[in-house]
Amino acid sequence: MSGEELLAQADAAAAHAYAPYSEYQVGAVVLLHDGRVFAAANVENAAYPLGVCAERAAIAKAASEGVRPGDVEAIAITASPCGGCRQWLHEWRFERVHFRRADGTVATYAADELLPETWDLPQT
Ligand code: THU
Repeated sequence: MSGEELLAQADAAAAHAYAPYSEYQVGAVVLLHDGRVFAAANVENAAYPLGVCAERAAIAKAASEGVRPGDVEAIAITASPCGGCRQWLHEWRFERVHFRRADGTVATYAADELLPETWDLPQT
């Protein structure tokens, strides 16, 4: 599936955002190697730091269905991923991360390009 096609699904998911505080709607769609997709939106909370970003919600939804990092191929996000989400994208080893820049153009990166030389749990 192309980045544009995945982003169109992310746009649809953004419509379900629960964002009464920022009023900033974000959607994300995880694509698996087997073709399945998991879509989600950002979910805010009155205790602001407890809100969940759309891409983390989509990954959590997939993980809760048994999906593991080796199963995922790509993710599309309607906005540039925040720093914390980049750590999640790294953990899940997405081959392609598509997101829409503020100017409307589409960016595509491998997860590691978005967080070079990132921290990993030391191997024991
Ligand atoms: N947001 C996301 O869903 N993903 C990001 O990577 C950036 C920020 C959400 C969090 C919050 O609900 C709203 O956008 C404004 O920050």
